[in-house]
Amino acid sequence: MSQETVALAFSGGLDTTVSVPLLKEEYGYDDVIGVTVDVGQPQAEFDEATETAEALDLEHYVVDATEEFADVCFDAVQANATYQGYPLGTALARPVIAQKILDVAEEHGATAVAHGATGKGNDQLRFEAVWRQSDLDVIAPIRELGLTREWEIEYAEEKGLPVDAGNDGEWSIDSNLWSRSVEGGDLEDPAHVPTEDIYDWTVAPTAETETVEITFEAGVPVAVDGDEMAPVSLIEYLNDLAGQYGVGRTDLMEDRMLGLKVRENYEHPAATTLLAAHEALEGLVLTKDERQFKNSVDQEWAEKAYEGLLSVPLVSALDGFIAETQTAVTGTVTVKFEGGQARPVARESDYSVYSESAASFDTAGVLGDITQDDATGVAKYHGFQGRLANAAKSETETTKPTHELTADGGADEE
Ligand code: ARG
Repeated sequence: MSQETVALAFSGGLDTTVSVPLLKEEYGYDDVIGVTVDVGQPQAEFDEATETAEALDLEHYVVDATEEFADVCFDAVQANATYQGYPLGTALARPVIAQKILDVAEEHGATAVAHGATGKGNDQLRFEAVWRQSDLDVIAPIRELGLTREWEIEYAEEKGLPVDAGNDGEWSIDSNLWSRSVEGGDLEDPAHVPTEDIYDWTVAPTAETETVEITFEAGVPVAVDGDEMAPVSLIEYLNDLAGQYGVGRTDLMEDRMLGLKVRENYEHPAATTLLAAHEALEGLVLTKDERQFKNSVDQEWAEKAYEGLLSVPLVSALDGFIAETQTAVTGTVTVKFEGGQARPVARESDYSVYSESAASFDTAGVLGDITQDDATGVAKYHGFQGRLANAAKSETETTKPTHELTADGGADEE
């Protein structure tokens, strides 16, 4: 008799822990393998996953995807990507995680993949968009069995599963290199002001300030203060540094894919810094029409990123446009951490479209053979059509019979 194996996205939390016995009991699999993918979560999360896997006697793999993930984060920088103010950490990570789990599943001859996401969130959609491109069966036990947290806690107790029943922490937290998200608990009330203890990567801003120089090559951040860094290290470095100035906190009402609104709090010091610096550099090197058009391309890219659909053909096309624009995005931006903000305060590039001599008030301001006086003709024409239209309107208004002008439609008794 052949053994059927399922690979489970495993975190060691309540949902994925109860999924292990359920995949055997309810779905009839002989073997479950747990896969935890490293996208830059804190060490404690791997410890929890490993310990729980051991206690469950689960065959468990930890797969490193930090470098791939950092590259995706830098794609997001090139697209200036945020969704409703959120720099998309969780959303960007899910397809990377899903792909790694699929790889492990295929290596181990599994016939199915499973996740512990519920039927309310975005993650089920992001995971399955990747998995359903394969021939493997896709299983979502929590969603399919309609489980509630209460039921899971009771079941775990009955089975003696290694979970801290009901003590999974006050909030639901998801961390990776790019952002830390905090939701649930008292934060579910949008009128509740978050307490300082929801934050882990940022302190409350003080009067202290600091400036850093971020260097980009073709849109990719490559150095901080002149020190070249690999993507993962660069992100970690800026999370730590900008976090000390309270940079990168957001509190927002987020519209999930299924339509539900959720109150989310995020921390993302490096993302905020890099996105601000990148946009500032684009402001120097791209033409006005490139910037305007790219704005809509960027928005579309961010939308697809939120949906976990960066592998669709539309995004390849958007990527082509973005890559073309980024050839000029080489240079250095100085960012000031001040009052919880990462504010670009200086920028320089060999590709600068800005011409100091042309814009300056101090010089004659000559560009090639164009002189100031050449603008006179342009100024005469500027707004010409609007003037014509306004003149035509006031002409018809003065010639209209007065009774047609009254609001109640009646004749004007004067
Ligand atoms: N709402 C965000 C997203 O869908 C993050 C969700 C993170 N999950 C959590 N348990 N905090 O991308």
